[in-house]
Amino acid sequence: MGLSTVVTGIGELVTNEPAVGYGPLGLVQDAALVVDDGRVVWVGPSASAPDADRRVDVGGRAVLPGFVDSHAHLVFAGDRAAEFEARMTGTPYDGGGIASTVAATRAASDDELRAGLARLVAEMRAQGTTTVEVKSGYGLTVDDEARAVRLAREVTPETTFLGAHVVPPEYAGRVDAYVDLVTGPMLAACAPSARWIDVFCEPASPHAFDGDAARVVLEAGRAAGLDLRVHANQLSAGPGVRLAVELGAASADHCTHLTDADVDALAAGGTVATVLPGVEFSTRSPYPDARRLLDADVTVALATDCNPGSCFTSSMPFCVALAVREMGMTPAEAVRAATAGGAAALRRTDVGRLAVGTRADLAVLDAPSYRHLAYRPGVPLARALDV
Ligand code: NIG
Ligand code: FE
Repeated sequence: MGLSTVVTGIGELVTNEPAVGYGPLGLVQDAALVVDDGRVVWVGPSASAPDADRRVDVGGRAVLPGFVDSHAHLVFAGDRAAEFEARMTGTPYDGGGIASTVAATRAASDDELRAGLARLVAEMRAQGTTTVEVKSGYGLTVDDEARAVRLAREVTPETTFLGAHVVPPEYAGRVDAYVDLVTGPMLAACAPSARWIDVFCEPASPHAFDGDAARVVLEAGRAAGLDLRVHANQLSAGPGVRLAVELGAASADHCTHLTDADVDALAAGGTVATVLPGVEFSTRSPYPDARRLLDADVTVALATDCNPGSCFTSSMPFCVALAVREMGMTPAEAVRAATAGGAAALRRTDVGRLAVGTRADLAVLDAPSYRHLAYRPGVPLARALDV
């Protein structure tokens, strides 16, 4: 048994448990929380907090469940700052730059990739993220993809095989042959280290996969025991979202271009819509209509998509601020999407909320309320709290 810790002086606690506190965030003012063996064992008002072996006083700060960043591409080498600069003067994003990251990643040693991954995970933790999903997708050979998911597995259980990210240059014009590789030997090599399979379903990109190819990839992944997530409707209102819902994917990610039929499908199905507004910020594109999704009662998650091309931010607080300012979400909706929403997108019930029995993954703000995440954009208020 580890030592128990009582965290006191919590000015405002976000539990995401409407039964525990008020409003959809389940807020408790002047709260305390007891942690034992990495789990929450008690939550309630400070005045009735039980004793514990250790006491940590957070001095009136706000505490929330650590951010659940359910979409990130952290296993890569190289830099695409010049591509970003070109976009800011009008060059559109179409996924073509992914090939340059693939070349740099193949050339990197395991230790170089491991160091980059560790740096980004630490950067995330320093900004309040305590769960992160990590995708492969910059190797695109059997060995390079297997290495990527293996390295990802060293830092998180939420590992995703994304061999179907783009068609690599050596398979140009031979999509079917590449899909055979992805669904055959590459999947077999990656499945032992992967929980999820993902595909960049985007007929509008000359580099990505159409709906038929995406279906083949996802069905093969499911047959190999993986659960599904989809890069869907990023550049156009393609078939990705409806395919994700039809196949029972945990999440359809991006959702930038949606038809009414897409919104209806999400509302009727069990697939979470994950919005990634850092991508629209970093590609100078119109933002997804998160308001339309929320008003249709779709479960919405908010994630960074941290990657060297379309969005190189590791900051969930930045995404919360964008969600509020640019996508019509309320501060509470954005915080919920960044915590409970991400957990739903990963089908996790032990993170993204704080209640007896959940993981004690805590983020603390140098501020009295969750509202400050959007109210004070760009200010480093959030960090993971070690207890
Ligand atoms: O989620 N859209 C596809 N994949 C990534 C971008 C990868 C890259 O540009 O390197 C995304 O935006
Ligand atoms: Fe992505």
